[in-house]
Amino acid sequence: MVDAFSRVPPPEDRLALLAGQQASGETAGRTICSCYGVGEQQIRRAIDEGCNTVDALGKRLRCGTNCGSCIPELKQLLARQQA
Ligand code: FES
Repeated sequence: MVDAFSRVPPPEDRLALLAGQQASGETAGRTICSCYGVGEQQIRRAIDEGCNTVDALGKRLRCGTNCGSCIPELKQLLARQQA
């Protein structure tokens, strides 16, 4: 989501971004990584698409790569989704 503000979004995406949603209209879910504004739904989607470690999630979404306070929750999401 942070990357979404590095460019001027097209008019149809502006309201979604201001409402805290992905430009595509999908919500990011509750925020798990506050450093990079990464939501639970984004993380679940990344896990479904093959990110099966905290490092892989960090490489794809940047979550867990700054202060690290979200890492325990990332591990919980990984464990729950892979069970
Ligand atoms: S909250 Fe995720 S790296 Fe800081």
